[in-house]
Amino acid sequence: MSLPRRVRLIEVGPRDGLQAEQTIVPTTVKVELIERLCEAGLPAIEVTSFVSPKWVPQMADNAEVLRAVLASPRRRVGVSFPVLTPNLKGFDAAVEAGAEEVAIFAAASESFSQKNINCSIADSLRRLAAVVDAASALDIRVRGYVSCAVACPYEGVVAPEKTARVAQRLVEMGCYEVSLGDTIGAGTPASVCRMIEACATSMPIDRFAGHYHDTFGMAIANIYASLELGMTTFDCSVAGLGGCPYAAGATGNVATEDVVYLLDGLNIETGVDMDRLLASGEFISAHLGRQPASKAARALRARRLEA
Ligand code: HMG
Ligand code: MG
Repeated sequence: MSLPRRVRLIEVGPRDGLQAEQTIVPTTVKVELIERLCEAGLPAIEVTSFVSPKWVPQMADNAEVLRAVLASPRRRVGVSFPVLTPNLKGFDAAVEAGAEEVAIFAAASESFSQKNINCSIADSLRRLAAVVDAASALDIRVRGYVSCAVACPYEGVVAPEKTARVAQRLVEMGCYEVSLGDTIGAGTPASVCRMIEACATSMPIDRFAGHYHDTFGMAIANIYASLELGMTTFDCSVAGLGGCPYAAGATGNVATEDVVYLLDGLNIETGVDMDRLLASGEFISAHLGRQPASKAARALRARRLEA
């Protein structure tokens, strides 16, 4: 089985990671984190979401964060800064703040769709089609997400065909890539591969990315299994930050440090500098008053302290 030579990592810590923090993180800290991640070589950083501040107060400074990041002298050429937009209101606000790429999100489970965005899957797809049309008129790239791609916090196991149907709709709408979200991190290589295979029956696998939360410690195994299937894009969160406000008990995305350690060990290029990445994780963890959740980060730090 040959593994890819290069993998694209999408850093989602500043959005997926920080959205679930109870204490509001100051805008300046978010911007500094994003600048550091940029300098660490991450090619795409999801910086915020233009959702309702009543639903997700942590992202209320969305416009300030995006504006600051786009204007930053530490910005690197070619790095993209997608932002989540659930509807036209969010899309218009994102465009107003200068967004060059947006991400839309739907779910494969009805209950999660209702809890997360207050509407059915079918209604969400109609809303999202309007966002994609508006984006295409402005030449703004759109990435898609399917949440609960293998399991739902309210309904349990999700059939791969359900995920595949929603993923296919997002690709047909015009998403350049669809990220398959194991929102509660319950998947194993077997269930994740079944889900990817269902999605990739009618579309090439390079239209899909893996977005695996690490609640059960399976995310690295799931990434390895996905690599074997030919997937080459993965979402990850520095220091393993995060969770989802509408998936109680779910922990953060797989830690970026753990993924880079895995890929470095497999000689798969990511363009990410581990030392700078570790420093970014330590920066935000110090602000939050805890250790990075990444095992690789903690082990590498201990090794450095011993040396
Ligand atoms: P709603 O209440 O059904 O919306 O919420 P509405 O259209 O009836 O509007 C209600 C109020 O919200 C109005 O304000 C609107 O103006 C305002 P009011 O009149 O009460 O003052 N509103 C907005 N404000 C700011 N930005 C907007 C916006 N839209 C409406 N875009 C809505 C619907 C989608 C807005 C709401 O349910 C919401 O914001 N949900 C947040 C969902 C969220 O952010 N979840 C976490 C991200 S998804 C995730 O983490 C999963 C992922 O990582 C993948 C994975 O892991 O699976 C992506
Ligand atoms: Mg997520």
